This record gives sequence, structure tokens and C-alpha cells, in this order.
Amino acid sequence: MDMTIISTLPENIPIDLLLLADPSEHLISEYLTTGQCYAALHQGRIIGVVVTLLISPNTLAIKNLAVEEAFQGQGIGKQLITHVLELARQKNLSVEIGTGNSSIQQLALYQKCGFRMVSIDFDFFRRNYPEKIYENGIECRDMIRLRKDN
Ligand code: ACO
Repeated sequence: MDMTIISTLPENIPIDLLLLADPSEHLISEYLTTGQCYAALHQGRIIGVVVTLLISPNTLAIKNLAVEEAFQGQGIGKQLITHVLELARQKNLSVEIGTGNSSIQQLALYQKCGFRMVSIDFDFFRRNYPEKIYENGIECRDMIRLRKDN
């Protein structure tokens, strides 16, 4: 499928896409103010996004990663992550990403991209979201943080 990845401004990213990865509009608007957005473009339309944020002098965090539902499972998420890893490698930065304990597909994808688990923020989701979240029949309670060093 023809697809290119471009650097773009936050206002160009459809909010529905960002909400797929993060249900909190408040958190999204926070990291969009200082984050960097990269979009997957297909036939002139944004179908995927990855948002990065420099969280320490040598660490880049992926704060949001989403692919429009109709285009999922075709390798676009992996290409967006690979794009960020390549930019980070050029700047000698490590990359961090966090996801819920119940996000089985995401945990598989990130490990296939070379990330390793480094810590667990217990009950992160109970503390930060008003309602309980369930995925794959599992309550999403803990934030699993993964890291890839260059
Ligand atoms: N077991 C093993 N591997 C799996 C499983 C599984 N159960 N499910 C998926 N995978 C693998 C696939 O096999 C594939 O790897 P492969 O290329 O080696 O076969 C990979 O995971 C999927 O890769 P892509 O097709 O590149 O993924 P996609 O384009 O669908 O993007 C994404 C993934 C971004 C998670 C997308 O599904 C999405 O937008 N989901 C909703 C939003 C979301 O959950 N975002 C992440 C939140 S965390 C954050 O934003 C920091």
C-alpha cells in the first residue's frame, strides 16, 4: 500500500485518531503542546499518527500511536515506530513507550520492534482514569513501560 510518513503540526491530526490510543483529551492536549507529530499519509489523507516527546536529555517517549481502524494490521503501526526509532538513533536517544497490562497486541508489537519491559506503574489506570477499563477480558490496571536503547 502506498504510504508516506511526514512530520506535521498537531492541528492537522484528527482528534478521533489520537483518542484511539488515549481516551484522555486532557492528556492529549498536554503532550501535543510540546510533542512532535508524525503522520502516515495515504492518498493525501492522515491514516496514522505517532507523537513523541523528549522526556529527558537522552530519552524520547512515544506518547501516542494510532492507526485508523480500517488500516490496522497492515504494518503501518510498525512503520511509524521504526520511523521514530531511526530518528532517535540519529540523535543517540533511547525510546520509551508505555501501554496497559491488558494491551496484548501492543505488547507484542513493541517487543517485535525491539523494546524490552523496564518497569510497571501499578494501578496507573485506576488512578488516572475515572472508569475501569477492560480489554481482552482483562482489567487494564497497570502501566507497562518498555524501552529500546540505541
Ligand atoms: N500476538 C503476537 N503478535 C501480534 C498480536 C498477538 N496477539 N497481535 C498483533 N500482533 C503483531 C502482528 O503480528 C504484527 O507484527 P508482524 O508485522 O511481525 O506480523 C504487529 O503486531 C502489528 O503490526 P501493525 O500492522 O504494524 O500494527 P497496526 O498498523 O495495526 O498498528 C496499533 C498498531 C497502533 C496498536 C493499532 O492497532 C491501533 O491504532 N490500535 C488502537 C490504538 C492503540 O491501542 N494505540 C497504542 C496505545 S499505547 C500508546 O499510544 C503509547
